[in-house]
Amino acid sequence: MSESDVPRPKVPTGVAGLDEMLGGGFPAGSVVLVTGLPGTGKTCLGLQFLLSGVAHGEKSVFLSLEEDVPQLTETARQFHWPVDEAVRNGSLKIVRLDPKETRQSLHRIQGELGKELEALGATRIVLDSVSLLNMLSDDEPGRRTTLFALAGACRASGATTVLTAEADPRHPEITRDGLSEYVSDGVILLGYRTGGDGHRVGLSLRVLKMRRTAHVRTVQPYSIGPNGLVVDAKAVDFGGP
Ligand SMILES: Nc1ncnc2c1ncn2[C@@H]1O[C@H](COP(=O)(O)OP(=O)(O)O)[C@@H](O)[C@H]1O
Ligand SMILES: [Mg+2]
Repeated sequence: MSESDVPRPKVPTGVAGLDEMLGGGFPAGSVVLVTGLPGTGKTCLGLQFLLSGVAHGEKSVFLSLEEDVPQLTETARQFHWPVDEAVRNGSLKIVRLDPKETRQSLHRIQGELGKELEALGATRIVLDSVSLLNMLSDDEPGRRTTLFALAGACRASGATTVLTAEADPRHPEITRDGLSEYVSDGVILLGYRTGGDGHRVGLSLRVLKMRRTAHVRTVQPYSIGPNGLVVDAKAVDFGGP
């Protein structure tokens, strides 16, 4: 049995129901992509994942390419997560990155990012979102290189990582860039459920891939409530998204 065949310990996601679908959580050290249309809760899920780690005494870092630090802290406060305390005591770092600079520095530093992340001592990383990074480059080889470098740096740090990405509005089961899923060890798809009349009636989640994990493949409903995302892992599969 090679090292890569050894089942990894699971990292609880902080999302009730999702852990059940994954047999305990994300495989430790993996890079998991969370994709979905705007408003499906990708940013919320990222924050929830990190604050659940903080609750277990872990350190985490949120790399934001989209929202500012005050916006993100306000979102977390609204869900009653102890974000201010976590930032104050250093167990959560929220870093606002300029997409343009990040792309340039990624080319420059490549493997260095992994070391920097390791130095932070974070066991959980969120990067929200890779879509903005990708939009800055219209050549696919460049995007591919950036994404591989990013995923590699996160993996090298030893942390468990969540990357978020916008879904393609025409094909919401794949990302806009069509690449992020290939650099990730796992893919979680968040989507809108539509009623017979085509109106959005709710949200649903599907685990498309999770390396080395016997995961549930059905589509399960979820909601965004006062304490964040909650997946109903027991509901019967009703198809979509
Ligand atoms: N405090 C809250 N209570 C309930 N639902 C919320 C709350 N905050 C945000 N939401 C829901 O989450 C959605 C935004 O989630 P977000 O994580 O920003 O989505 P994404 O990052 O996928 O665009 C909002 O449109 C709203 O439906
Ligand atoms: Mg978002």
